[in-house]
Amino acid sequence: MRTAVIVLAAGRGERLGGKTPKAFVEIAGRTILERALDSLMAFDGFDRLQPVISREDFDRYAELDLPPDPRLAPPVAGGAERQDSVAAGLAALPEEFELLAIHDAARCRVQAGDIARVVSVAEEFGAALLAVPARDTVKLVSDGAVARTPERAGCWLAQTPQVFHRGLYAEALAKAEADGFQGTDDAELVEHLGAPVRVVSGNPGNFKITSPEDLIAAERGIAQGEAQ
Ligand code: CTP
Ligand code: MG
Repeated sequence: MRTAVIVLAAGRGERLGGKTPKAFVEIAGRTILERALDSLMAFDGFDRLQPVISREDFDRYAELDLPPDPRLAPPVAGGAERQDSVAAGLAALPEEFELLAIHDAARCRVQAGDIARVVSVAEEFGAALLAVPARDTVKLVSDGAVARTPERAGCWLAQTPQVFHRGLYAEALAKAEADGFQGTDDAELVEHLGAPVRVVSGNPGNFKITSPEDLIAAERGIAQGEAQ
């Protein structure tokens, strides 16, 4: 199947703080978005990479140092919510791309081996995501009190890429929009449709850069990777 990846970089990065939008913050001399695109291009199973950036960031994007890769499409503008940005990326993809990966640029160090596994499971089963087992006990909390403690062995933390047959994802997105349903990830939209989503064991190094301490952890990971 012809495979495309939507690279989500249209968020502001409120929790990171600072003036620069998160995707354009540098870690060890290279922006988060440059690093994310490098990581995704290292997987040769993607036929198209579709960046989604904020309307305000086209000048910043033009300044990036990106390898001349014919798979890399010009960026499109995202929307107010993550789900709107996914919809904008999807609308820019020609019909020939039948398998759709969706990735947070903020997970800028995803490994090609993990991408290959989740893509292959999604191709076979229709929908799959990378996730890691929860190390801590998860509490479901309501009004400041524990409502329930789910069995830890069954708790996984969702990552991206999340990968879907395009028809299935488009149906899930349309239903979510019709129902006014906002998911916090893409798999949740497919779950809302009632279709099964496979879980592929990922790598803790593929964490999402969210708050300032994550920048330090990512910098450390990059330094260790380069030293190997
Ligand atoms: N994203 C997007 N469009 C939005 C919101 C988020 O493309 N309207 C992207 C972000 O750029 C990021 C990914 O979705 O790569 C995951 O979102 P998150 O980590 O929440 O990033 P931000 O929304 O930028 O951060 P914050 O919530 O702290 O403002
Ligand atoms: Mg956000």
